[in-house]
Amino acid sequence: MLKREDNERLCRVGPGTPMGELFRRYWIPAVLSEELPAADCPPVRVRLLGEDLVAFRDTNGKVGLLDAYCPHRRAHLFWGRNEECGLRCVYHGWKFDTNGQCLDTPNEPPTSDFKHSVKLKAYPVYEKAGVIWTYMGPKEQQPGYPDYEWMRAPENCRNVSKTFEACNWLQALEGGIDTSHSSFAHNNNIADKNALRTRATAPKLEVVKTDYGFKYAGIRDLKEDNHYVRAYQFLMPAQQMRGAMIRWTDGKMEQFPSIAGHVWVPIDDANVWVYNILYSSDVHIPFTPEFVKKHEKDFGRGEEDMLPGYKLVRNPSNDYLIDREVQRTETFTGISGINTQDYALQETMEQPFCDRTKEKLGTADTAIIAARQLLLEATRDVEAGKTPRGADPETHSRVRGCDQFLPKGVDWKEALLEEMTAKF
Ligand code: FES
Ligand SMILES: [Fe+2]
Repeated sequence: MLKREDNERLCRVGPGTPMGELFRRYWIPAVLSEELPAADCPPVRVRLLGEDLVAFRDTNGKVGLLDAYCPHRRAHLFWGRNEECGLRCVYHGWKFDTNGQCLDTPNEPPTSDFKHSVKLKAYPVYEKAGVIWTYMGPKEQQPGYPDYEWMRAPENCRNVSKTFEACNWLQALEGGIDTSHSSFAHNNNIADKNALRTRATAPKLEVVKTDYGFKYAGIRDLKEDNHYVRAYQFLMPAQQMRGAMIRWTDGKMEQFPSIAGHVWVPIDDANVWVYNILYSSDVHIPFTPEFVKKHEKDFGRGEEDMLPGYKLVRNPSNDYLIDREVQRTETFTGISGINTQDYALQETMEQPFCDRTKEKLGTADTAIIAARQLLLEATRDVEAGKTPRGADPETHSRVRGCDQFLPKGVDWKEALLEEMTAKF
């Protein structure tokens, strides 16, 4: 349970709100590189932290992220012509470069130097690992470029995709650091009583705070065997990394050296972009296209599962195509797609965000409680003029998640130290 004012503090992300200001102290994904595939390609609408923006790639390949509304009479620049190193508003022809500088005001007399005094808000961008990142905060506080391990993985060892989720960002993040729900929401074979997460449904959670957020483990006691340990990283403000090595499919265990994660980027108070990360933990074992395709399909992002705008075919308008017969006989939810299951649960909580004053939290929620504490603390740090936890790339660049079996009595914090250290 959370006090109402703290829930508001955590959930609202518009300019001037405590969490909005916190997010504006980190580099965050703005769009995927594939959304701006070539020089002078069509511009795209971008909404981040409650602000309407437009992104375009100019003739030289440089990306601009500008206020969406033309400073002349506020036409949306999505309609703009992307031509000769600038985006030209189609209402009266004013043209802007990637820095937001007005280059031309052709409906004014040729003698006018009006354009020199017109500048559109432009945010800095950094393109890396298939993602165009932006920093929306005060210039003097701008941290070094983001440097998560997955960003350094070779291209054939990495996959990044993106999904629209219609809920507040914190609901989505909290699902991502909630290891116990996978025994239920993601139990896709209820008949298989040997599945790892079915054998032990009440993991013991241990959280260790760090200078980037925390690492935590969900420890499942497999009785006669070992402990099954899923070790996560929570990287401030909104990223999760977890081992994705041990996969239990069709009654058997498969191992593939991989790490998965998500980065959540608030669109506004009621919607969030989810960037889905998968990378090989071993440079010598690159992904095959089939492996990536199967992973995306399993998580609900097969080609046939997607609508334009990175939206899902299964969504609240059709009750996520829930099949009650499948729910009765095969899977816990009756909903197909691992992340689609998450979305069904998270998107249908209270609007515009979940009422945390009414929760009853248990020991399985330890990591969620820790994340809220760190986020609240960081909003106060920003208010006090300090650098928030995890903004400096030095703090987050050397870590990864992992999942392993460990003999009972072995401390995961010691035993997994090496496995939780970046290799790229
Ligand atoms: S509104 Fe854009 S040029 Fe007039
Ligand atoms: Fe989930």
